[in-house]
Order: sequence, then C-alpha cells, then structure tokens
Amino acid sequence: MASMFISLLIFSFFFFLGTPLSSNYYQNTCPNVESIIKKVVSDATRNDKTAPAGLLRMHFHDCFIRGCDGSVLLNSKGKNTAEKDGPPNVSLHAFYVIDKAKKAVESVCPSVVSCADILALAARDAVVLAGGPSWDVPKGRKDGRISKASDTSQLPAPTFNISQLQQSFSQRGLSLEDLAALSGWLYTIYARAFH
Ligand SMILES: *[C@@H]1O[C@H](CO)[C@@H](O)[C@H](O)[C@H]1NC(C)=O
Ligand SMILES: *[C@@H]1O[C@H](CO)[C@@H](O)[C@H](O)[C@H]1NC(C)=O
Repeated sequence: MASMFISLLIFSFFFFLGTPLSSNYYQNTCPNVESIIKKVVSDATRNDKTAPAGLLRMHFHDCFIRGCDGSVLLNSKGKNTAEKDGPPNVSLHAFYVIDKAKKAVESVCPSVVSCADILALAARDAVVLAGGPSWDVPKGRKDGRISKASDTSQLPAPTFNISQLQQSFSQRGLSLEDLAALSGWLYTIYARAFH
C-alpha cells in the first residue's frame, strides 16, 4: 500500500521536472489549505458514501493521463471533448466535491492552489476517511490546459486481464504491488459505500 503511494508520488514528481513538489509549498500563501479540503471531503462523505471512491478513482484517472495535472477536471470546449466526457467517465461522479473544495480554498487564498493539488489532497483525505492509510502529499502541481477524451483510451480498460493491467501500470512506473494496492483499496471503499 505505502509503496503504491510512494510510486504515485514519484510518478507525479517526474511528470513535473523543473517544478519540484514540496510538502510546505503553500506554507506562506495558503497555510490552511489541507484542513479546508479535509473538511469539504468529510462533509461530502457524510451525505454521499460514494464520494471517497469517486475521489480516489478520479485522482487515479487524472494521474494516468498527462500526469497529475487536473486535466480530468477540465470541461469540454468547442470541438474538443475533454477527458471527463470520454467513455470511461461513468464513475467520475465526485466532481462536485472538488468544485466545493476549490470554492472553499479560493475564498481564503484566491488564485494560489492548483486544482491538481486539490484533487491529490482530496483523494488522500478520502482514503483516510474510508479507513485507509494516510500519506504526506507533496504540493506544487501545475494545472494542465489540455484534456482530450481520446486520451482516456490510455486508461486500463475494465476488460483487461491481469497481464494487460500489469503492463499498463508498468508503463507508468507502477508495480504489480501498486496495482494490487490500488485495486484493493478501490474495491474496499466501493464495498463500504454500497453494502
Ligand atoms: C460520459 O461520457 C458520455 C460519452 O461517452 C457522455 O455522453 C456523458 O455525458 C458523460 N457523462 C458525464 C457525467 O460526464
Ligand atoms: C491477456 O490478454 C492478452 C490479449 O488478449 C493475451 O495475449 C494474454 O495471453 C492474456 N493473458 C492472460 C494471463 O490471460
């Protein structure tokens, strides 16, 4: 489990070489960012038991395509259909939680915190709320401006067998153990939400 998150962190780090992430990135500009987001996620979870699963899955989808850059949150525009409107979008129903968190953060520290960081923090909080482990989220991700529905074909398909899944994960530097941890936690959180 821990190793998956370490891999995810390394993974998001290498996608932004030149922009090193750090734990205290918002120390001066938005010191309470973590507690603001945690409260929004916890309030949402009280009313919507599927929110944690949605948030973890959304973070995973975001990171798998173009790195953890918030591209999953962008809307379709003109002729461009965004990732969120691509076919594997059915479970990405937790956008409203990120919208609320973004509003709450903006009201205290406008134009400082990236949506990609908000999503990364919300996903961590969601796992903790669901009884999972906690981890430190390095911050400083930049929001991407590109989001294409066609890129969602890079996501592992629900029909993938274990060797295809393993290959898809390994292309992003994630191990079989990481795959097991992510699948296990997604399953556990979904089971808790729907039982
Ligand atoms: C999901 O994608 C389909 C197209 O594949 C689109 O029609 C639908 O509106 C999308 N749903 C959401 C919640 O974005
Ligand atoms: C998984 O699917 C691929 C492609 O269809 C196939 O080549 C491979 O043998 C399958 N592996 C297993 C373990 O079933």
